[in-house]
Amino acid sequence: MNLMDYDFLRKLLKERSGLDLSADKQYLVESRLIPLARKAGMPGIAELVQKMKSGAETLTSEVVEAMTTNETFFFRDKIPFDHLRETALPTLLKARANRRSLRIWSAACSTGQEPYSIAMCLKEKAQELAGWRIEIVATDLSQDVLEKAKSGIYSQFEVQRGLPVQLLVKYFTQIGEHWQISPEIRGMVQHRQLNLLQDFSHLGKFDVIFCRNVLIYFDQDTKTGIFGRLARALEPDGMLLLGAAETVVGISDAFRPHPDRRGLYLLNQEKKVVQGLGGAVPQRLRVVAAR
Ligand SMILES: C[S@@+](CC[C@H](N)C(=O)[O-])C[C@H]1O[C@@H](n2cnc3c(N)ncnc32)[C@H](O)[C@@H]1O
Repeated sequence: MNLMDYDFLRKLLKERSGLDLSADKQYLVESRLIPLARKAGMPGIAELVQKMKSGAETLTSEVVEAMTTNETFFFRDKIPFDHLRETALPTLLKARANRRSLRIWSAACSTGQEPYSIAMCLKEKAQELAGWRIEIVATDLSQDVLEKAKSGIYSQFEVQRGLPVQLLVKYFTQIGEHWQISPEIRGMVQHRQLNLLQDFSHLGKFDVIFCRNVLIYFDQDTKTGIFGRLARALEPDGMLLLGAAETVVGISDAFRPHPDRRGLYLLNQEKKVVQGLGGAVPQRLRVVAAR
């Protein structure tokens, strides 16, 4: 691939999906896009780029999707789901006792294992949540992964990754060599296409947001912008869960790490107080707000 084509693709991917490719990732681009070019009847990346430059929008979306990394599995990393069961749910069950509703967002859900893991955690608390309105919203940039997520159908290999066997038996039906998650669990999750680079205020406020293993692909400014908007999408006492290699520290002061739970973040209310004052904050007030 020539350098000009690579630069064009880097710029386009950064604008469209936030993917921040370093200068030495040609091999990655080639390994993902040469098969796509061939499938579209083109010999290679030069022709693919030419076609994209002439305004082939569907092809451009396919290129953006082909460059996303969709790796995921049930109960990935385990700890975030322990935080959900042991910290977020007990706290929110008390806090929402009058309202009796919970909204949870899986913000880069890939093929659906994350939102279905959340749904199974909640289903396991069915007694405590009887009569509650539960909404799990699962979004992703890629339409392909969303289609699979909606189907709820997984291979033997996929259900063997992270899913406890008792949950497999309880919530899945075997269809030939595949397994489909029950309509009841599937019905708990609404799937929608959404690009985290764009405005998502229309989704409303959430009690818990899972935004895991997607921000690692973005540069610092993009992360800061997304954290700011995630903060606005969270209820004041809501909680954010990030991936094991992700943090807000040094990137955004909209959130602060939970004092005891690694990977769990709370809204930085002090920051809100200071911001709420509007304009420049006198030194004296900054000190008060930080106490
Ligand atoms: C590695 S998967 C993470 C899946 C899941 N959250 C987990 O931790 O297992 C990253 C997902 O982010 C999605 N993604 C990438 N860029 C995105 C963007 N700008 N907006 C929304 N989703 C995006 C990809 O399509 C992919 O499915």
